[in-house]
Amino acid sequence: MILLCRCLFAVLLFSASTFGTAAGQAESKADRDIAAFLDRHWQHPLPPQGQPPAAFSPLEASLAPADCGTCHVQQWRDWQTALHSKAMSPGLLGQLQVMLPDATDEHQACLICHAPLAEQQAELQKALAARKAKAGSHADGLTCAGCHVRSHQRHGPPRRDGTTPAKNAPLPHDGWQVSAAYGDSRFCAACHQFPADWPALNGKLLENTHEEWKASRHARENRSCQNCHMPDRRHLWRGIHDREMTRNGLDIAFSPQPAAKGRVAADLKIINRGVGHAFPTYVTPRVTVDLAQEDSAGRIIPDTRELHVIARQVSLDLSRELADTRILADESRRYAYRRPRHARAVAISARIRVEPDYFYADFYRATLRDPAYAKGHATLRQALRLAEQSPYILYQSRLPLDVPGR
Ligand code: HEC
Ligand code: HEC
Ligand code: HEC
Ligand code: HEC
Ligand code: HEC
Repeated sequence: MILLCRCLFAVLLFSASTFGTAAGQAESKADRDIAAFLDRHWQHPLPPQGQPPAAFSPLEASLAPADCGTCHVQQWRDWQTALHSKAMSPGLLGQLQVMLPDATDEHQACLICHAPLAEQQAELQKALAARKAKAGSHADGLTCAGCHVRSHQRHGPPRRDGTTPAKNAPLPHDGWQVSAAYGDSRFCAACHQFPADWPALNGKLLENTHEEWKASRHARENRSCQNCHMPDRRHLWRGIHDREMTRNGLDIAFSPQPAAKGRVAADLKIINRGVGHAFPTYVTPRVTVDLAQEDSAGRIIPDTRELHVIARQVSLDLSRELADTRILADESRRYAYRRPRHARAVAISARIRVEPDYFYADFYRATLRDPAYAKGHATLRQALRLAEQSPYILYQSRLPLDVPGR
């Protein structure tokens, strides 16, 4: 979620080596083991995998997701529909193309989260230098191996029944090393939480999901990122781009309120009961709440409209926070509509719209207009098209006026 911005790069490059996830938080022995595992697992940059063990078949030695998918069919099917598989996106690549092809440190500052394997980066460098880089390729963004394979050794959670493979069990790819880290929210924090010394505005890091979660009831009740985003261990990772996921995280009610003659009154109430962090957590989505009176043809009467924004709005150069109206975990928000009744009004309506990539769309438009950035235009236009396709209506409700007794 970082964008082309020189000031940000400086901070990123400077602190890339301190990108630890768990250090300093350890308490119990189990906790310390997880922290130590994660520090090794998410080194920056990741070392190359090296030579596969001689006994591995080509299939076992392969890091390609499709090859894992020949045996792990369900994970492969799920992952292809998830944004993790699309992390080498036009939006990312367009920005890499704007940088110099040999600016590997700058690329690295993005790839540690978007395509973390050394093997992916080597391939991408070649493609960028030859001007043949393509979005969606270069081994597919955040792959199975990115999360599960180091030095050709698989790592994963215990089996579902809690058992672990016996030593020297005759399993493909020599089985796997079990770590409780896979069930821990800190596993996700490696990329969904900025370290403390990374860019912040108004005292809040630009990516602060794990901290928001830690301060919530969900953390106290041991409900991890995985519980909500990987239920039944599914590899779907649905988030704000998915209407159903977002709708299920919120309680929403639109109800009429007592009003004097000639006036209308209604409350829209949103409770963040099932989002494990702020709704939304990042600076990039925008949610708008639109309350208005409607005429008998179901048209909104313009003068009666009230618009509210739910977002952490920042300036395009990420130097200022303009407003933060997000709804924190367990917080509720009430929008009270109180207005004179319009002569043509027959109903009051509420509509909530989600623009998951609002900030990115603005950013791409600005970059495409800026003469200082002449490269990467075809890819950035593709990114803009994608960002403009993601908005959806989250909620819609209509309260007729003139109901007897109201
Ligand atoms: C600390 C991890 C991290 C780093 C480093 C990072 N990103 Fe991201 N990026 C994310 C996450 C998480 C998301 C998804 C959430 C969001 O949309 O903000 C994301 C989303 C994006 C998106 C929107 C989705 C898409 O793929 O089109 C773009 C574009 C992007 N990042 C570009 C970059 C660029 C360019 C850099 C380097 C300057 C970078 N990122 C560095 C974690 C990271
Ligand atoms: C030839 C088939 C095959 C291929 C290819 C394969 N695996 Fe496996 N994998 C297995 C089998 C079998 C197990 C053991 C399951 C068991 O004993 O519960 C396993 C176990 C695992 C586990 C541990 C599962 C758990 O319950 O925690 C992970 C993680 C894993 N594989 C990841 C991968 C990844 C990533 C790739 C590709 C880079 C891959 N595997 C390629 C067959 C395969
Ligand atoms: C190696 C870095 C990395 C790790 C580890 C990681 N993610 Fe992500 N995640 C990303 C990036 C990058 C994106 C954005 C992909 C894109 O759209 O380009 C993303 C996207 C997502 C999204 C989709 C958000 C949306 O906008 O709809 C969810 C949900 C998510 N991740 C949850 C998780 C969870 C839960 C974990 C832990 C099990 C996790 N991630 C681990 C890098 C990571
Ligand atoms: C963003 C990191 C990430 C990526 C990418 C990822 N996994 Fe996983 N995987 C996990 C986590 C975390 C768990 C454990 C979830 C839990 O314990 O709730 C897991 C669990 C598993 C398991 C055990 C599943 C079970 O039902 O017991 C297998 C097998 C596996 N992954 C294979 C894969 C394969 C194959 C791919 C690619 C198609 C893949 N993973 C991609 C993070 C990832
Ligand atoms: C109690 C369930 C729950 C927990 C726990 C939870 N999430 Fe979410 N998450 C959601 C829901 C629902 C959404 C969709 C609404 C939204 O975007 O706020 C979401 C959205 C997201 C998004 C989309 C981006 C955005 O701006 O909102 C990301 C990324 C994400 N979660 C990552 C995480 C990570 C990382 C953790 C753990 C630190 C986590 N989530 C914990 C329920 C949960």
